[in-house]
Amino acid sequence: MSRAEIVAVGGPVLRARASGPFALREAVEVGERALLGEVVKLDGDTIVVQVYEDTTGLRPGVTVTGRGLPLSIPLGPALLGRMFDGLLRPLEHTGSAFVRPGLRHAAGERFAFVPAIAAGDALRPGAILGEASREGSRAQACLLPPTLAGTVLSVVEGGERLDTETICTLRTADGRIEDVAMTHAWPVRTPRPVLARRPPGVPLVTGQRILDALFPVAQGGKAAIPGGFGTGKTVLQETLAKGCSADIIVYVGCGERGNEMAEVLAEFPELTDPRSGRPLMERTVIVANTSNMPVAAREASIYSAITVAEYFRDQGLHVALMADSTSRWAEALREVSGRFGELPGEGGYPAYLATRIAEFYERAATVDTLCGRVGSVTAIGAISPPSGDFSEPVTSHTKRYVKAFWALDVKRAQARFYPAVDPLHSYAEDAALFAPWWTAQGNSRWLELRRRFLTLLDEQARLERMARIIGKDALPARQQLALLCADVVNEALLRQSAFSPVDRRCGPARQGAMMRVVARFLDLAGDALAAGVAPSRVAGVPSMRRLLRMGEEIGDDELARFGELESALERDFAALGTADAAPGG
Ligand SMILES: Nc1ncnc2c1ncn2[C@@H]1O[C@H](COP(=O)(O)OP(=O)(O)OP(=O)(O)O)[C@@H](O)[C@H]1O
Ligand SMILES: [Mg+2]
Repeated sequence: MSRAEIVAVGGPVLRARASGPFALREAVEVGERALLGEVVKLDGDTIVVQVYEDTTGLRPGVTVTGRGLPLSIPLGPALLGRMFDGLLRPLEHTGSAFVRPGLRHAAGERFAFVPAIAAGDALRPGAILGEASREGSRAQACLLPPTLAGTVLSVVEGGERLDTETICTLRTADGRIEDVAMTHAWPVRTPRPVLARRPPGVPLVTGQRILDALFPVAQGGKAAIPGGFGTGKTVLQETLAKGCSADIIVYVGCGERGNEMAEVLAEFPELTDPRSGRPLMERTVIVANTSNMPVAAREASIYSAITVAEYFRDQGLHVALMADSTSRWAEALREVSGRFGELPGEGGYPAYLATRIAEFYERAATVDTLCGRVGSVTAIGAISPPSGDFSEPVTSHTKRYVKAFWALDVKRAQARFYPAVDPLHSYAEDAALFAPWWTAQGNSRWLELRRRFLTLLDEQARLERMARIIGKDALPARQQLALLCADVVNEALLRQSAFSPVDRRCGPARQGAMMRVVARFLDLAGDALAAGVAPSRVAGVPSMRRLLRMGEEIGDDELARFGELESALERDFAALGTADAAPGG
């Protein structure tokens, strides 16, 4: 083991004189408390170390010991349902966001293990060894590390085992004997290998209409939620965590205020999974770094979290990773880089900010796993641009790498229009790829209706500008009607409260039904206009109230009521003396 002696300490960064070889990115232990750190720079016999724990009390002369390995985290069945700090050390269940300095990882935990292999089997890297389950929760696949292969010499019988004890012994091709446990270590900054990456084709169903209908993200895709202070980033991410179609949720609270993170830590264990009726925590892993934790650990937390996400992906699961917020992470990068004395770039961030953002989002994908299954990681990062300015470096670099951009709008949030996604500044590059999936869900008009609603919202922005100048009543009837129709799209379809028991999650079938009802209204309104009916009379049809409140009033299991609403609209328009009352016309 290499050793070094501290010569200078500055916050989370220290310099030490090495008396042996260190590798870049090697993990080190510092002082008697064995504080965890990482070598970030080599300069002759001087090493620069970033320390992930509080460096108070460290002084020149203290010893730094190399571990010979890059910074790694343990991946195994004990992750699910738990909360960790940025280096994946368990947080106490008391909701306290503090970890004892120098603490490494959780003590072993017992699981019921059922082997899926036998002596003599030839195992490829990442092979499935068996299943582990703990009392009452789902079984998880146990994986051979992606870097190990060989012939099984022995395997334990099924039964209660510690996740850290040997469950099988392998002989590798070069004759080494390797003991394998349910849990293995993996370096956080190295993407876990896969057989192949698949192109996007299936959307991640978020359960939020404005996202699924207008700005869908692929399963295995990348999305960003930029938004100014208080525009609803955290609520939206939590809503997605509860309602999206992923099997596993990895939530990384990255440098948010301590009390806000405490709320997440307290609230998550109470949540019920709408799909199974069981605690949502059973399929969730939380990585929490509040702003009162050492800044360098915050930088590492995002890599720990995506490594955890990849580990579940490798079992053939679909994982959604929520990072709140990548801006706080970038600030940690900036702060630590400043301590190294690196030359600051744009906005004071280090020149490698863009690379780091890219490296994070690049790890999101749908893949063929080493064990022959299909799994995915969808990455959804919140961004809190200072003073809501989307041209700042973190937002603008992120824009280059994400396919879905869900821009939150201060004005919408102030009007309490939630989710406050701004239809004019948001986009989804992959949308057209999802039309076949929606058709298979019985919504063959999805792409056409999406275009129609987006066009209308675009027109609304233009007309509102004009109306502000000349007054709304001076607009021609056709344009007044367009404004009315855009309001209906917003209010009836896109508005969705995260706190409504009926509406906080909207399944694909109900989304399809609601899109069709709104489209039917647009058709009927257009016909009425052509027949000379004034827009004010269209606005006054008796079913309007029911139309605007359908999200709150008609649940996922009451789809027939959308047909009734459509018939009611047709009767209303017929009474205006214009519409063709035949359904579907
Ligand atoms: N989808 C929603 N449905 C209903 N209310 C919402 C929704 N989103 C946000 N809100 C309201 O807005 C408030 C602020 O939301 P949130 O904390 O998510 O904002 P934020 O963007 O994360 O703020 P910060 O910049 O402080 O992190 C919430 O407490 C809630 O009252
Ligand atoms: Mg927030």
